[in-house]
Amino acid sequence: MRLIEQALDAIDAGSPPLTESFTRNNPAVYTSREWAERERATLFHDFPLVAGFSSQVRNPGDYFTDELGPTPLLVVRGEDGVLRAFANICRHRGSRLAHGCGRTGARFVCPYHSWSYDTEGRLRAIPDDFGFAHLDRESHGLVQFPVAERYGMVWVTPRTDGEIDLDIHLELLARDLESCGLEDFELRERRVVRRRMNWKLVSDTFWEAYHIKFLHRTTIAPMFVRNLALFDPFGLCHRLVGIRTSIEKLRGLPPERWDLLPHATILMNLFPNTVFVMQSDHAEAYRIYPAPDNPSESVTEINVLGPAGAAADRYERRWGLPGAPGWDKVMELLVGVVEQDFEVGETIQRNFETGVLSNVFYGRYEPALEHFHDSIRAALGE
Ligand code: FES
Ligand SMILES: [Fe+2]
Repeated sequence: MRLIEQALDAIDAGSPPLTESFTRNNPAVYTSREWAERERATLFHDFPLVAGFSSQVRNPGDYFTDELGPTPLLVVRGEDGVLRAFANICRHRGSRLAHGCGRTGARFVCPYHSWSYDTEGRLRAIPDDFGFAHLDRESHGLVQFPVAERYGMVWVTPRTDGEIDLDIHLELLARDLESCGLEDFELRERRVVRRRMNWKLVSDTFWEAYHIKFLHRTTIAPMFVRNLALFDPFGLCHRLVGIRTSIEKLRGLPPERWDLLPHATILMNLFPNTVFVMQSDHAEAYRIYPAPDNPSESVTEINVLGPAGAAADRYERRWGLPGAPGWDKVMELLVGVVEQDFEVGETIQRNFETGVLSNVFYGRYEPALEHFHDSIRAALGE
């Protein structure tokens, strides 16, 4: 209700909500190797990171691997029904153990010398094991990391002595995330995009509506109210709500019949590196990682999640949407838009590397950008 009122008021006033003053950022955070190393050691090591989605691991034996972060992961639901996360690294001599995703038999078998592990990570078989007499199998299972499943997503903190407390990390976003009902969604489409731009530039593209009228004038601009996005901080995370022109339809309706989602795109930063986007008929999740050892490159996994089962019925009842859209079509459309952002982002990366600019500026209607970068500085102890 509050967001709809805020949006309609902003349209009437002819101005988006404004902060006190514009702010600056230092382009060196996109190019410095030292800064990238600090981000890797903190943001991508100490924080719970979205590794995948519940729909990938619903049943015992279901697993997925994740190669995007600094530590390769293997997430599997054990025969005992418990979800676990491991380093995807064989204890013999370090080969990658599992590939891709799917449902395993009872064992993961290393491709190199066939040491095998069960779905609970225990070392079960060593071929010609007389070569390893007295090796204690009990203590040579897969290296395990803390994992949690919440809001239809799987989170891993990739350090053996780490902890996961999503209640603290996501406390303020919990009701938003719950109301998305992502538990009932299925992962429909996935694409991985490598770009010559710092990971934060990929994220930045989502955090203001200022550019839509210009950069996206041929694609999504006509659907959105010019330069209007409603920002709320939630600890290190934040939410930004883009407003569609169709929101005008709500003016004639009593507030008890108001519903935001059909008239908005709701974006959340799940700090540090997952951009979650709730649309009226599907959800998107962008998992954004720096390339190893190179602040100028990033890899982004774009996920399209669609309602399934009860959620699909609920969606249809609620918005009268015709059945499931073609998910490949949904992916094509959104990739077409973000590619426009990424092309600009690559020019920005190159330009920052010249060292010509010592500042960039975030306008009074770009507070989400300011918050994102402040949160990174706070997490790094700056
Ligand atoms: S490295 Fe895995 S069995 Fe040798
Ligand atoms: Fe964009």
